[in-house]
Amino acid sequence: MAKEGVDMTEETEYMIDRNAGKEAVNVESPSNAKEMRAVVLAGFGGLNKLRVSKKAMPEPQDGEVKIRVKACGLNFLDLMVRQGNIDNPPKTPLVPGFECCGIVESVAENTQGFEIGDRVMAFLNYNAWAEVVCTPVDFVYKMPDDMTFTEAAAFSLNFVAAYMMLFEVASLREGMSVLVHSAGGAVGQAVAQLCSTVPNVTVFGIASCFKHTSIKDSVTHIFDRNTDYIQEVKKICPDGVDIVLDCLCGENTGKSLSLLKPLGTYILYGTIGQCLSIFSMCDTCKVNPIKLYEENKVIAGFSLLNLLFKQGGCNLVKSAMDKLLSLYEQKKIRPVVDSLWALEEVKEAMQRIHDRGNIGKLILDVEKSPTPLMANDSTETSEAGEEEEEPEGDNDSKERMPFIH
Ligand SMILES: NC(=O)c1ccc[n+]([C@@H]2O[C@H](COP(=O)([O-])OP(=O)(O)OC[C@H]3O[C@@H](n4cnc5c(N)ncnc54)[C@H](OP(=O)(O)O)[C@@H]3O)[C@@H](O)[C@H]2O)c1
Repeated sequence: MAKEGVDMTEETEYMIDRNAGKEAVNVESPSNAKEMRAVVLAGFGGLNKLRVSKKAMPEPQDGEVKIRVKACGLNFLDLMVRQGNIDNPPKTPLVPGFECCGIVESVAENTQGFEIGDRVMAFLNYNAWAEVVCTPVDFVYKMPDDMTFTEAAAFSLNFVAAYMMLFEVASLREGMSVLVHSAGGAVGQAVAQLCSTVPNVTVFGIASCFKHTSIKDSVTHIFDRNTDYIQEVKKICPDGVDIVLDCLCGENTGKSLSLLKPLGTYILYGTIGQCLSIFSMCDTCKVNPIKLYEENKVIAGFSLLNLLFKQGGCNLVKSAMDKLLSLYEQKKIRPVVDSLWALEEVKEAMQRIHDRGNIGKLILDVEKSPTPLMANDSTETSEAGEEEEEPEGDNDSKERMPFIH
């Protein structure tokens, strides 16, 4: 069982150094600072490729706003990026992160609708894990007055992806049934909440056993990912389910398709179980189109980041975001936050996702100082100098880690 290694030298440098907090304080006043702190991925690989460094202060170009970041979302995808385990990985060094929130600090030309002082959340095509970001207004959304920065950092990616899959790809309607993998994760919990906004929807959640007590009220039925959940679901719904949301791929694809009702929709939206750089095509999930035709099944894919940054889908996303913000204001949805971490604690945060420990979303809180106790914890549990590339630990017997944040 592989475990992500944590480089002890770096931990000492970034986690235990009590000056780390002061470094943040010493950054010049926002208006004239030439530098800012950011998480930098020096190269693809293990946790020791991550560090917090000073970077040149970005300035907004035409159509962009400059945001003083308060908090950033940490997603499973960020672990895959760290490993270079994505399609067409960008060049390193890079600043990771696809979403953040904060306060607009300046605006360039052609940024109508936004002004200095606005509280906003934003998608970025990398570069989100920094004290300051600049991004086109097409990817920026105003936060509701009562939304906290922690909630905003946990909102955009998970809820927009969940909403578009359920309502725009699969047309979720009253009385339908939905099966979702990783139900205790950030996307899984967003899916469960959105399903509860439609009458009489049955949600089957698959998750590690130790999460069941915490999340059982968010779904209708919950199964351990190591049980034969296909048979369990069929005992309840002999005809199968209307929608399967699969973020695992691999052997799950065939199993999930077998569980679909006629006219049911299977959506692949992640590849946790697959290594894209090794498998250009996944042999276990070959689909025969004739069988789809004969069985009346729909197979779909969804990638929010591709829709936003490669396929010009920002208006579609904006309209989904408007509906989600309305649901938030009606108090029908609320992001589930697992834990907050300082930028300097990004390695520990990633380790927590890798270890399947999170329930809901992990947040990088830009104003948080690293917790010395965490440094000691990480020192005790990490193997010095080991650099492990694959997050593949199968922590079947793992209990939820005691959590001290
Ligand atoms: N397509 C899109 O637009 C889009 C947008 C956002 C996220 N995603 C995808 O959605 C999935 C969930 O993302 P998230 O950020 O919300 O993560 P998450 O669900 O909060 O955390 C990952 C969870 O995945 C499960 N898991 C299954 N196999 C695992 C493995 N080998 N290693 C670690 N965890 C494993 C674990 O839950 P259990 O042990 O309980 O199963 C773990 O807690 C990811 O595949 C991500 O790439 C896609």
